[in-house]
Amino acid sequence: MIMSTPSKRAVTAVIVVAAGSGERLGYGMPKAQVPLGGETILMHALRGVVASDVARQICVAVPKGDTALRESISEFTIDLVDGGPEISVVDGGSSRADSVRAAMAALEDGTELVLVHDAARALTPERVFQRVSDALASGAKAVIPTMPVVDTIKTVAETNGSDASIAPEVVTGTAPREQLRAVQTPQGFELAVLRRAHEAAGLFDDKQSAAVTDDAMLVELLGVPVHAVRGASQSLKITTPLDLIIAEGLLEGPLGIRWVEG
Ligand code: CTP
Ligand code: MG
Repeated sequence: MIMSTPSKRAVTAVIVVAAGSGERLGYGMPKAQVPLGGETILMHALRGVVASDVARQICVAVPKGDTALRESISEFTIDLVDGGPEISVVDGGSSRADSVRAAMAALEDGTELVLVHDAARALTPERVFQRVSDALASGAKAVIPTMPVVDTIKTVAETNGSDASIAPEVVTGTAPREQLRAVQTPQGFELAVLRRAHEAAGLFDDKQSAAVTDDAMLVELLGVPVHAVRGASQSLKITTPLDLIIAEGLLEGPLGIRWVEG
């Protein structure tokens, strides 16, 4: 019988989006350049991707005009052993989705599968890359790593009229927590599906474009099933100064915490 699902050897690329400005971290430099445990956030992320051994090509989107990150990627590339992945660099765009599109355009011909990863998730364990890659090899067209949600999540609306003097927002509902997941990266796709999803997003107006926070939501809009595998606590997105403190703590060694992996 001829199998139609991609084999484990399907040509896979990883896109690392590292072109953000890191405003919420407030370091006054692109987040990918911010030091973490004696290295930059980007170097941690890149080492994780290489160690996972899932990709033949890694394409990094860096801020337009950046030279420091480009130089550090060149040095990193020189140190890679023969047979390691090809690493290329592109200028990112003004939104995350634009950076993904710029990197997709630079993937080698023949690429079948792609994992899109946030450089900001500098400490993502190898096994998360492998889980996503394995699910693609099993025939999924789209895969995301997720974690259970610990907080109760409510929807709210702005208060108006006389209620506005009491509080700025009022609760409109409580989402059922057992059905909610916090979504991480790397998110894996058949490249043709991700390309189609981003082409469709080209028709979005500014408000719709601003609401795009991950790639999977674009694929969902195509009606393609998105499968979920377990993520990892260590895979936190370094967004605020508190996240950076947590990431530093993780690197400092065993804290006696048993990681809940969802
Ligand atoms: N990203 C990107 N291009 C952009 C915006 C974001 O490549 N124009 C990347 C970031 O570098 C990051 C990932 O997308 O690795 C997730 O974005 P986020 O955590 O929001 O990072 P920043 O946009 O840099 O941070 P902030 O929103 O606080 O400015
Ligand atoms: Mg951002």
